[in-house]
Amino acid sequence: MSTDFDRKGRKAFDLSGKVVVMVGAGQSPGPGMGNGRAISLLAARHGAEVVAVDLNPTAVKETVEMIVAEGGNAYAIEADVASKDDCQRIFDTAMSTSGRVDGMVYSVATNPPFDFETNSMTVENFNHGINVNMLGCYHCNLFAAQCMERNSGDTAGSIVNISSIASVKNELGLNIGIMPYALGKCGLNHITEIAAVQYAEAGIRVNTLMLGPINSVLANRDSQSLFGLDADEATERHNDVVKLKMGRASVWESAYAALYLLADESRFMTGQQIRLDGGATLVR
Ligand SMILES: NC(=O)c1ccc[n+]([C@@H]2O[C@H](COP(=O)([O-])OP(=O)(O)OC[C@H]3O[C@@H](n4cnc5c(N)ncnc54)[C@H](O)[C@@H]3O)[C@@H](O)[C@H]2O)c1
Repeated sequence: MSTDFDRKGRKAFDLSGKVVVMVGAGQSPGPGMGNGRAISLLAARHGAEVVAVDLNPTAVKETVEMIVAEGGNAYAIEADVASKDDCQRIFDTAMSTSGRVDGMVYSVATNPPFDFETNSMTVENFNHGINVNMLGCYHCNLFAAQCMERNSGDTAGSIVNISSIASVKNELGLNIGIMPYALGKCGLNHITEIAAVQYAEAGIRVNTLMLGPINSVLANRDSQSLFGLDADEATERHNDVVKLKMGRASVWESAYAALYLLADESRFMTGQQIRLDGGATLVR
């Protein structure tokens, strides 16, 4: 841990010696970059060993290759967070391979298929969405904290749960397509608050990073299925939602926010919902 905050020339946001489990480190197929990949790259650039986890084996291996090509340290685990056993296996593997867990980022999401015309979704698809967006978050928070409790020192670990402004702002009304995502993210916000209280005494911090419109593969693809918008229309709509004149952000703005939350510089912060949304949820 490096807390010599007042030292001139100190390296900021140094994750050296820390092991960060990045759940959702691959990315949905398509051009561009996802938040999980960007956070993984940045954490590795700041010295962390990254345990890169994703359902998509090709994408997560690509992330690891990118980190290793830059001289960083990472390995991949293929896992489905809808399965409790897989969630347990992630942290068992991290402990047996790396010996410790200091950080965990839950950056997974899914929008299950639904019928846009009839506004209907099968119960199985709905439940799968909740399992991935919420229950997987619960399991990963639980198992991550069990690893972090074994660390010594005042700041035993940092958990960052990636949420969305869809959990506080509804533009689609009673549209079933967005429900497993929006409700799952509401649950994720709540899991953060409960876990923050539960683990504070153990020195484990838990925060929500709530994202607004970010230019990622997933956001562009799902704007089409949820809103019926093509890529240009989606960009225009996302830019409209953001109040800052810059329009929607890149994945790097979210990666730097996650880096701050993982690093010792944020060691007095827990249980918070950080809105990184360009003012999209501001009310006047
Ligand atoms: N892009 C945005 O505008 C935006 C806005 C708000 C919140 N977010 C959040 O950011 C996070 C990352 O999303 P992104 O937009 O960067 O997309 P992304 O496609 O890069 O990340 C999602 C990842 O989750 C993985 N995944 C899906 N189901 C899984 C499962 N069952 N088990 C394991 N991994 C699984 C996917 O393979 C993918 O790699 C998500 O939590 C999302 O809700 C994004």
